[in-house]
Amino acid sequence: MRLSGWRRSGLLLAAMFLSAAGDAPTAAEQDHRGMMRQLGIVELRPGPSGDPEAPNAANYDPAKANPYSVWPDLMTMADGRPVTSAAMWKRERRPELVELFEREIYGRIPALAPTVTWRVDSADREFIGGRPVLAQQLIGHLDNRGAPQIAVDIRATLVVPANAKGPVPLLIMFAPARYPAPSQPDARDAARLDEAMKALLLQRDPSLAAIFAKHPGLAFVEPGSFPPTPPRDDRVTTLIADGWGVALLDTASIQADDGAGLREGVIGLANQGRARTPEQWGALRAWGWGASRLLDYLTKRREVDAAHVGVEGVSRWGKAALVAAAFDERFATVLIGSSGEGGVKPHRRTFGEQVENLTGAGSYHWMAGNFLKYGAEKGRPGRKTAADIPVDAHELLALVAPRLAFVSYGIPAQGDAEWLDQQGSYMATIAAGRAWTLLGKRDLGRGNDYRAAVIPPPTTALIDGELAWRQHEGGHTDAPNMETFLRWADQKIGRR
Ligand code: GCU
Repeated sequence: MRLSGWRRSGLLLAAMFLSAAGDAPTAAEQDHRGMMRQLGIVELRPGPSGDPEAPNAANYDPAKANPYSVWPDLMTMADGRPVTSAAMWKRERRPELVELFEREIYGRIPALAPTVTWRVDSADREFIGGRPVLAQQLIGHLDNRGAPQIAVDIRATLVVPANAKGPVPLLIMFAPARYPAPSQPDARDAARLDEAMKALLLQRDPSLAAIFAKHPGLAFVEPGSFPPTPPRDDRVTTLIADGWGVALLDTASIQADDGAGLREGVIGLANQGRARTPEQWGALRAWGWGASRLLDYLTKRREVDAAHVGVEGVSRWGKAALVAAAFDERFATVLIGSSGEGGVKPHRRTFGEQVENLTGAGSYHWMAGNFLKYGAEKGRPGRKTAADIPVDAHELLALVAPRLAFVSYGIPAQGDAEWLDQQGSYMATIAAGRAWTLLGKRDLGRGNDYRAAVIPPPTTALIDGELAWRQHEGGHTDAPNMETFLRWADQKIGRR
């Protein structure tokens, strides 16, 4: 194709314009740069690409994946003393690890985090897999007297079996908070809605009467059918069928999933609209905090067995579920779905997603600002890498011990990408096991030599211990592991 001179320069101008617009930093990029300035970071290394065809593709060669052969030792205190007893773990090592994860990785919750007042906004009687449930929309209102311009109302949907004989165990799931299987109007109500709908249409266009006359059976609103509409999420069906309750917790209502939102949500509210300091919490910690506040409320509901409330999530929500359970010892169990980097995947593995991917403007908001240091190439912190992080993922997972932790992944062939590093996550789970055995519980039962650990074939369920592992044969979801999770959790909490 030939272009005339003016057309060519026009295109050139348009291209220049577009790239200039593309260069204007977004709100997230501005906030990210502000955090770099606070830390004196001049340059961050870019993370590798998830696209295997890209010139900067992430490493997927297992032979090159372990340049850091020694991970921080779970059972050695920072001052070199070995951890020799359960008491020493609880009194010294666990608090030391908590402090490091707060300061360097996920951030601290402000001492004066807003208080939450919960109320039931609406209720619905639904059927899930043929079983009656009570479903309620909950609103957790955050006290915003310190910054009235920032309103935060946490949304959650509570679903409990209607015919339970006593309090039920419950799983808080990071998921959209909506009615799982909304009840439908009966024949009478449906007819009334339908009449009102037709009247409205006739008001707008009286000539429609001819069409209605031609099709006397036409209905805009159909009465609810039997069996009732199946729920939107079959994990909920599995949980209800097993007699568990569910609470769907909407993370976006706690804290937005981007850097642009850091001056709003609970993080912004606690800061009265100011930018974060490097030690303050990121979105993962804020979402975990939200789960803890929901737990506060659930412990007061008589339908819920407060001693057996767990937390679940997949992907970024899998990271958040692990963070929630690691810091808040009231969670009896955690189902960690496909959590990857920032979750169970070791920082010290050159395979798939890297520390540098989480220090960039697209993901840094999940973490404390301090975490940016470990992607720094130039500046005040000097050049730092994953090897400089004082802790690693196996130690985060170990914070859940001796409680119940289930690590779940799918397979790359079905879309649970290699990016997540299933093998590395298995190694971290193996390494974490020592915390369970020290505390008198069982780990995966495959030793603790993470360097020699090889991921077992998919569908191998390592569920004898309080720490469990299973890679299912599905994709980027934990739904195919829900039944195994329940079989394991029920047995461990004495329901079977
Ligand atoms: C990206 C990101 C992961 C994250 C995932 C998700 O792939 O790199 O760290 O877990 O998104 O949450 O969907």
